[in-house]
Amino acid sequence: MTDTARLSEIVASHAEREGALLPILHDVQAEFGFIPEAALDPIATALRLSRAEVAGVIGFYHDFRRQPAGRHVLKLCRAEACQAMGGVALQALLEHALGQKIGETKDGITFEAVYCLGLCACAPAAQVDGRLVGRLDAAAVDALAEEMRA
Ligand code: FES
Repeated sequence: MTDTARLSEIVASHAEREGALLPILHDVQAEFGFIPEAALDPIATALRLSRAEVAGVIGFYHDFRRQPAGRHVLKLCRAEACQAMGGVALQALLEHALGQKIGETKDGITFEAVYCLGLCACAPAAQVDGRLVGRLDAAAVDALAEEMRA
């Protein structure tokens, strides 16, 4: 099945339900790993929305990607509890160790923000290729960066 056919199938499976946009976007990202640019027009047309409205929703939710992720994904929590427990300094250390800013994908590594992983009691927290890690500190940064480069 082509990407276009699969996209049409996903859109059609939700188009008649109320609030179809988010389920469609979730399914598209689950299928392709990101929301391809070419998906915006068919989704907008099917839901009688403008392309800008679809793009606005994608941009609002940090979990939606407009580009494919790298082979490793590091999500650093930037919500309040983690920020209060050293998250800002941790972000700077990780950016330095990885050689990339948060929000970037570079050399196969996606480093991005997430807003609460439900691990607030173990702040600051992150998700490393889907694995939750808490109580991060400066000592953990080099090991995390090394794991990302593997
Ligand atoms: S605020 Fe970071 S895990 Fe909840």
